[in-house]
Amino acid sequence: MNRRAFIGASIAGTAATTMFHRAVWAAGADRLNVGLIGCGGRGTGALFNAVDASPEVQVAALADLFPDRLTRCRGYLNEIGDRVNVSDEDCYIGWDAYRELLARPDIDLVILATPPHFRPMMAAEAVRQNKHVFMEKPVAVDPTGVRLVMAAGDIADQKKLSIVAGTQRRHEACYLEAMNRIRDGEIGEIVAARCYWNQGGLWNHARRDEWSDMEWQLRNWLYFTWLSGDHITEQHVHNLDAINWALGAHPVKCTGMGGRQSRTAPEYGHCFDHFAVDYEYPGDIHTISMCRQTDGAAGRVGEVVQGTRGRAALNSGQARFESGATWEFAAENPNPYVQEHRDLHASIRGESPRLNEARRIAESTLTAIMGRMSAYSGKVISWDEALHSDLDLAPPAYAFGDLDVPAVPIPGSTAPHDTLWTPEA
Ligand SMILES: NC(=O)c1ccc[n+]([C@@H]2O[C@H](COP(=O)([O-])OP(=O)(O)OC[C@H]3O[C@@H](n4cnc5c(N)ncnc54)[C@H](O)[C@@H]3O)[C@@H](O)[C@H]2O)c1
Repeated sequence: MNRRAFIGASIAGTAATTMFHRAVWAAGADRLNVGLIGCGGRGTGALFNAVDASPEVQVAALADLFPDRLTRCRGYLNEIGDRVNVSDEDCYIGWDAYRELLARPDIDLVILATPPHFRPMMAAEAVRQNKHVFMEKPVAVDPTGVRLVMAAGDIADQKKLSIVAGTQRRHEACYLEAMNRIRDGEIGEIVAARCYWNQGGLWNHARRDEWSDMEWQLRNWLYFTWLSGDHITEQHVHNLDAINWALGAHPVKCTGMGGRQSRTAPEYGHCFDHFAVDYEYPGDIHTISMCRQTDGAAGRVGEVVQGTRGRAALNSGQARFESGATWEFAAENPNPYVQEHRDLHASIRGESPRLNEARRIAESTLTAIMGRMSAYSGKVISWDEALHSDLDLAPPAYAFGDLDVPAVPIPGSTAPHDTLWTPEA
């Protein structure tokens, strides 16, 4: 099944579901069975974080496209001891692995940690199967996927399911305190903002003879826009999400630029290695955003919010205000990767207002995608144009075999809605 057919079937199935197949995990139950889909670095880490967060968490099932990734994850889980209850029958491999795991009635909560391309279809299926969801960021690579996540989030509300996204800053004490101070007017009216994710290059797996084109791209998913959304989406979404949070809005339009200068070899697929975007928010408030993955260049990760009476500088574990009342965050800052699971479990247990972060992470993901669309094309992109775009980066089929490397975008000649699968799509 290709993605378009899958999405159609999934939405229809979701809308038709008026009864729960089973009661969702009940408050007071002594066990929260967790399944992981996407057993790579972050997925494995997220399982450890979930176990740390709550004593009732039990790891019950694993799913991955590749057996070696699942086996490696399973090996690490030995460290968790009796909180893991995964036999061979609880392990699912292949393109349908996620569906098989999600069809299990004993799974209460699922962690979605595949490359971002697969998040919308997996989130929609998880909600259709009445699962609570922890989903890593970003949650889509194109507007078609963003809309599917928004729809899944709306259905989750109807079903009273909880959803948390892996934008851990939203659960980090220093960010929460800083945002409260910004809301309280400590730096005055916000007039501008800046955000950065500038760092060196990331991992790359050398191609093996036995890998098909599809397997090579999947194993190196960072470098293919259809899989990662490019690094403005995959990584910089954290900072853009914090800016949307601080400004209490999403952008109305943006003008972006970018390119590839240091990562031009074939092993880097077709992605850019740097972006710079001017986002315009309501009230003519502009945010300058930049991100790059360039070895040897200056690094910086964080956000700065400029107000009429001062400035707030935010970064993981730090928040510094320069204002009439200069302030620096110095309290305890619990590990946000654990805290986000603690907050999700409290929501599921009914101990706190129910969390459903689907729409706002979908909006932050679209913020990144519209910046990419503008940088790839050289055009100004409005929020409405991005939100309603038919851009769908899915490959012709989900199957191992031949697969072209999509074209490198060329600003000025690439159309904003170009899928890049052919040079002039
Ligand atoms: N919140 C954070 O700070 C943070 C940090 C790192 C990564 N992430 C996010 O986590 C996600 C995973 O990143 P990672 O670093 O763990 O990557 P990874 O490559 O280590 O893991 C991805 C896993 O998904 C599997 N997979 C791929 N396609 C699949 C499919 N169709 N069905 C089932 N499994 C499939 C892969 O085989 C692999 O095991 C990404 O979205 C990434 O952006 C978030």
